[in-house]
Amino acid sequence: MLPVKAFERLPKSVVPVHYEITIKPDLVKLVFEGHESVTLKVVEPVDQIILNSLELELNNVKLADEAGQETTISQVVLDVENEKAIFKLSSVLQPGQYHLKLEFKGVIIDKLKGFYCSKYLSADGEERYSGITQFEPTDARRAFPCWDEPAVKATFDITLVVPKDRVALCNMPVVSELPYEADPNLRVVKFDRTPIMSTYLVAYVVGEFDYVEERSTDGVLVRCYTPVGKKEQGRFGLYVAAKVLPYYKEYFGVEYPLPKMDLVAVADFAAGAMENWGLVTYRETCLLVDDQNTSTQRRQWVAIVVGHELAHQWFGNLVTMEWWTHLWLNEGYATFVESLCVDHLFPEFKIWTQFVTDTSTPALDLDSLKNSHPIEVPIGHPDEIDEIFDDISYHKGAAIIRMLHNYIGDDDFRRGMKLYLTRHKYGNTFTEDLWAALSEASKKPVGTIMSGWTKQMGFPVIRVSARQDGDKRILQLSQQRFLADGTKDENNTMWMVPIEIATSRSPTTPSMSFVLEGEKSEIVLNDIRPDEWFKMNPGQVGFYRTCYEPELLKHLVSAIDQQTLPPLDRLGLLDDLFALVQAGHSSTVEALTLLEAFANEDQYTVWNRVCSALSKLSHLLAYTDHHELLKSFGRKLLGGMTRKLGWESKPDEEHLTKLLRSLLLGRMAMFDDPEVIAEAERRFLLHIKGEEQVPADFRSTVYKAVLRTGSRSKYDDLLRIYREATLHEEKDRIASALGTIKNEEILKEVLAFAMSNEVRSQDTVFVISSVASSKLGRDLAWNYFKDNWDLFNERFKGAFLLVRLVKSLTENFASEEKAVEIENFFKEHHCAGTERTVQQSVESVRLNAAWLARDAESVGRYLTSKSQ
Ligand code: BES
Ligand code: ZN
Repeated sequence: MLPVKAFERLPKSVVPVHYEITIKPDLVKLVFEGHESVTLKVVEPVDQIILNSLELELNNVKLADEAGQETTISQVVLDVENEKAIFKLSSVLQPGQYHLKLEFKGVIIDKLKGFYCSKYLSADGEERYSGITQFEPTDARRAFPCWDEPAVKATFDITLVVPKDRVALCNMPVVSELPYEADPNLRVVKFDRTPIMSTYLVAYVVGEFDYVEERSTDGVLVRCYTPVGKKEQGRFGLYVAAKVLPYYKEYFGVEYPLPKMDLVAVADFAAGAMENWGLVTYRETCLLVDDQNTSTQRRQWVAIVVGHELAHQWFGNLVTMEWWTHLWLNEGYATFVESLCVDHLFPEFKIWTQFVTDTSTPALDLDSLKNSHPIEVPIGHPDEIDEIFDDISYHKGAAIIRMLHNYIGDDDFRRGMKLYLTRHKYGNTFTEDLWAALSEASKKPVGTIMSGWTKQMGFPVIRVSARQDGDKRILQLSQQRFLADGTKDENNTMWMVPIEIATSRSPTTPSMSFVLEGEKSEIVLNDIRPDEWFKMNPGQVGFYRTCYEPELLKHLVSAIDQQTLPPLDRLGLLDDLFALVQAGHSSTVEALTLLEAFANEDQYTVWNRVCSALSKLSHLLAYTDHHELLKSFGRKLLGGMTRKLGWESKPDEEHLTKLLRSLLLGRMAMFDDPEVIAEAERRFLLHIKGEEQVPADFRSTVYKAVLRTGSRSKYDDLLRIYREATLHEEKDRIASALGTIKNEEILKEVLAFAMSNEVRSQDTVFVISSVASSKLGRDLAWNYFKDNWDLFNERFKGAFLLVRLVKSLTENFASEEKAVEIENFFKEHHCAGTERTVQQSVESVRLNAAWLARDAESVGRYLTSKSQ
């Protein structure tokens, strides 16, 4: 475990009750000035006031009591390292209420945090900036001095002084707009008082936007703000938001407390979206939907993101984690609930089936590393926070909530949620508070079961063996922490594991449920013939892996062939077996044999898992002589279904069929399938001649396919359509395809392009990751990163985009030398906030190397035998 950096939270002796803040941005000079008056409660005698402030110039600091009596501030100390300002007082302040007044100045930076600028072109082509805020986790302190901790809640009156022709938005609706006396070009926009809230949720936006609006059935005015001229692209997000608000109100049994909800698409944005109370900000690609040019996958993602951020309006905004250690309460919970609401609005997405591949599997993968972390993680210095917005907080968090939801049932879960939200509204909570409410509602020992899942890192593998006894099957179960390197857990960690078992008689309804408490247990299944199968963890709801003894697994594999095993269970078998292979408990050849059982598969979700298994193998085998054999194996496996689906979508086709077609065509192109590549080239030509547009669902495949075999002219074609594209989604699609070209010189140009001003810095990571996704490009990208370290550090320091970049650059290497090289590089080039990611990547690289050493040869033999 990483040491927690020594760090002190703000003292509780002085707390803010109410802020009155005025901000006057200059969107040409990119600076702002402001002043604030904070009503303070002094709880015990103090001789100094400590609050957060970062990169702000502070002036005219004054402190007065209720009667206006001033206390002299003898010194203002800026503690830059700890991001604090300390106001030393000339005399001791007695408990009571006071007003702190001060003025401040700052720069509107281009770093996607604090109060930052985002570039856009006006209708007549002029470069302009909008001003946007992104405060989570700890950047409100860059915009105004404040007590910038989630547990220090207060109310806010915010006023913006802005140009007359700009839209100004804030958490609350406008209460007044007046001329600004000193400058006729400006106006003063005053917003209504907020409820009691945390600083990281305060937001304001100044810029030029169009909007569409709707009133939700529960009376909230919902608006979706888009770039000028693109308001139609806001319709879909608006639709989702207006439907989701009443759904959550009903589900949680608690009203949305604000009169309005604005959704704003922002051109430059680090995350995907941010849940500021009443003013949710989004990357354009996470909110805008263009009927002609948005893919089915993207549209689904927009619904998920809107559902996620609106879930935070309750979970996070109304009830907030006490400290960042409990971040998962926000993110894990919202990640679970986003699926609830998307399932409600779009049942055809079958989102719960996608949950396993998109959410549980990535969490299990990361959590099997020795360098994982517990869901509840000690956090000190702000540097440490960015890194925990990861697959553990989001995906493991969501997956264990799903396990719990299943264990206590939907009715009790809802009642527990209502209790939790009502009991803690406008307050802060620890993880235990959630367990307490769910325990009360369900009368089950929720805290006892769940604390092991949030306080311990990792998860168990359940080993299963069985013997038949008449019409009974006697199962032996045992648990042990699952580690990706196959070693034994030295700490002998145990979990309380809610276990379900289904049998072939009722594949979807478990015939047995219990909680495994100790290391071992014996279970008896009644009424089961020797030829009938049983499967642990139906629907893959439990957060664990299963390792069957070989005979049992054989039984289940034949159930895949006969399609008697439900889709998620087919997928689950493969998922678990693949993890066991990585850990060396099973052989890769066994996994390849299992993969072949999926040739007749018809479900998108299952194919998705099959394809990700193949691409992991493809990454590894690229470092051997067997890469071409694997591609041919992949083409054979995917070929039947790909041809069956073809390139034309049928009217009224299911949503998942559309996703499946895009998935398979994309993979076949990556496996160099000549037919797919030829068709892609044909379509690309028509597309660039403007004769026939490639449908949005195929564009990614087509772009990548033509570049794989393409030369400079294809690259130039793509750059041209990149430059012409006005939809951000389209730009991203092209940018993420550029790394597919197999030409070293051009790949170097792609890397330089990624850092040029043609690519917004929010998107640089996509481009570099696409280069790093092949063996050839990986070395180039890694070397480029090392050679340009200062530039990367300067541009991305302290941003979680750097965390993602480091991960995608390094984790697919597969040799001990690279592991050492990466370790050494980051020892010499220390990069605060990426320490754990580096350790995780290095661990993954060593796992890859061990995997190859163990299995490359036998895989080669197997693939050779298959190719004959
Ligand atoms: N609260 C986060 C945004 C955030 C992320 C702020 C990291 C600061 C650092 C927001 O609710 C979120 O989770 N956004 C996701 C999208 C979501 C659908 C998973 C994101 O930005 O990727
Ligand atoms: Zn979130």
